Amino acid sequence: MTGLLEPRAIGTSLERLDGRAKVTGTAPYAFEHPVDNGVYLHPVQSSIARGRITAVDATEAEALDGVIAVLTPANAPRLVSGDDRELAVLQSDEVGFRGQFVAAVVAESSEIARQAADMVGVTYDRQPHDTELRADRDDLYAPGVVNPDYPTDTSDGDPDGAFASAAVTIDETYTTPMEHNNPMEPHATVALWAGDALTLYDSTQGPNLVRDGIAGLFGLPADRVRVIAPHVGGGFGSKTLHANVVLAAVAARVVAGRPVKFALTRQQMFSLVGYRTPTIQRIRLGADSDGRLTAITHDVIEQTSRIKEFAEQTAVPTRSMYAAPNRRTTHRLAALDVPVPTWMRGPGECPGMYALESAMDEMALACGLDPVEFRIRNEPDVDPESGLPFSSRNLVACLREGARRFGWERRDPIPAARREDGWLVGTGVAASTFPVIRIPGSAATIRRVHDGRYRVEIAAVDIGTGTWTALTQIAADALDVPVDAVDLQIGDTALPPASVAGGSSGITSWGSAVVDAAREFREKYGPDPEDGDEAGGAMPDNPDTERFAMHAYGAQFAEVRVHADTGEIRVPRLLGVFAAGRIINPRTARSQFVGAMTMGLSMALHEDSVMDPRFGQVANHDFAGYHIATNADIGSIDAIWIEEDDPHVNAMGSKGIGEIGIVGTAAAIANAAHHATGIRIRDLPLTADKYIR
Ligand code: MOS
Repeated sequence: MTGLLEPRAIGTSLERLDGRAKVTGTAPYAFEHPVDNGVYLHPVQSSIARGRITAVDATEAEALDGVIAVLTPANAPRLVSGDDRELAVLQSDEVGFRGQFVAAVVAESSEIARQAADMVGVTYDRQPHDTELRADRDDLYAPGVVNPDYPTDTSDGDPDGAFASAAVTIDETYTTPMEHNNPMEPHATVALWAGDALTLYDSTQGPNLVRDGIAGLFGLPADRVRVIAPHVGGGFGSKTLHANVVLAAVAARVVAGRPVKFALTRQQMFSLVGYRTPTIQRIRLGADSDGRLTAITHDVIEQTSRIKEFAEQTAVPTRSMYAAPNRRTTHRLAALDVPVPTWMRGPGECPGMYALESAMDEMALACGLDPVEFRIRNEPDVDPESGLPFSSRNLVACLREGARRFGWERRDPIPAARREDGWLVGTGVAASTFPVIRIPGSAATIRRVHDGRYRVEIAAVDIGTGTWTALTQIAADALDVPVDAVDLQIGDTALPPASVAGGSSGITSWGSAVVDAAREFREKYGPDPEDGDEAGGAMPDNPDTERFAMHAYGAQFAEVRVHADTGEIRVPRLLGVFAAGRIINPRTARSQFVGAMTMGLSMALHEDSVMDPRFGQVANHDFAGYHIATNADIGSIDAIWIEEDDPHVNAMGSKGIGEIGIVGTAAAIANAAHHATGIRIRDLPLTADKYIR
């Protein structure tokens, strides 16, 4: 790299620049953008999981006062490309999963649209469906790659031979359930055509991704589509491009000139915008008598949809996590009559590290070693997968600092040995990791406007993460001006393009583009620029990505209480210690870490989308049945980080922090629950029934 940015604003806890607008209710979210003469959409969803639509009777719905149009596969505008069967909305009569859009009503009010949608009669030619993921299926297949582009299987050395001759072994299977992304703001779109130009106010993690995807579906040049998203109420991976956005744009075509407003209900979100695949993961570990790993195998079974492949990279973190000369990882998929899975915070790492870090705890016990020491003993010198040195790797420092703060040295390793007022008490640890991801395609423009102020433009997006604030800090340091001299503009494809807010890649990608634009600006105009001066830049190549393995690390410590009679489980303490390069803004960073740990707590204790195989749909598709963590589940939750200098990752020295906090949390809690009870639960979530024996 060309050297790290000198941090001045970077590293300070600047308050969220969008905070006041949000708490006063004036920050416009997608559905709230004022539009004239808006109409409302309500979809009709398939009541079968597989088959064909034979007829749609819209007579009654069309007769309802206030109904403007009923769209069906027979009358919906044609898209130019139907290759992506998730996005080819109302383009054929085939049904690939229950809940799929089969018709839609556009009406003068959302209530009328909803009432009319109920009146649409759809008849089907129903075919038998199959929605059950099981390890003994005979149709499991190996995808070509796993997300986003990793080899499906890897093998180094002789893992089976090493396992067979190891002094200590474990061989266990762990499962994680289907889980659903549930951002507070539902997926919502306002779509408005003017001639052949389309404007979308969309709740999205990727304005440019949506623009390019929609333009492709309609056969338009990308510049005919504009996507606006100044504020987004969470996404966790699900707010990319899904069928709901396409349906809004298709419907707006038939009510030309009037904006179509479409917000998914919470229940609709459970079948239309993706979910985390359930997994079945077999892990085998072999170690010598000193507790040094000799073999690791991680074999994953997961699901995708028959209409589109999504192959989660569940075993990928296992390839680089610990030193073991003999390693194997595999991924196998079942293609089912289910909605398409999607990214969900820490995709791959999150479910994969639950299994690996549970197995590491079991192996530490089998070796008679403390689980912190066992991990330190198996710390690799270089990336076991690529052989490359790490740009920085401070897992050991996280483990040691966490152990010190958590009071780990006082821990009695014997399981099921502590009882207070009827509660069994235990503590556990797990490691976290997440790669440093950079996504090409980001550019930025900087213009001096007036009074020494600078307008910084990039179509980045703030999904609640703090982009408005952190990018402003980066721009200020790159321009060597105070933060209040920076006027950041994001969330609009009319600005220079930006990569998606995903893979914890935003700040690396967008920040690098802003720093490059600032460097251009300063080189061009020197120390005394004038109003109107303007320069652009883009995320530069980083040759160090070829020379180093780049990951963030963390260690999570949990105290758990399990009630001896009821199995009720509580987490009085959760501590995360992270090493993620330079922290741009401690205030927003802490919020990211704690937020992701909260989601990990939720995964550990509650989250479970229960597929009813008779109907092929998630039975608990609302917050009455799909439980998420609340304050009552936790006592104190805290995140800290250690200083980490990494000159290789990017000009800011930062690593992504959006996702690492969820990685390892569930394993730390499961390991603590085992320490409390002596009961090893290998199937998430850790519900009370599983601890009553
Ligand atoms: Mo994140 S699951 O890449 O939005």
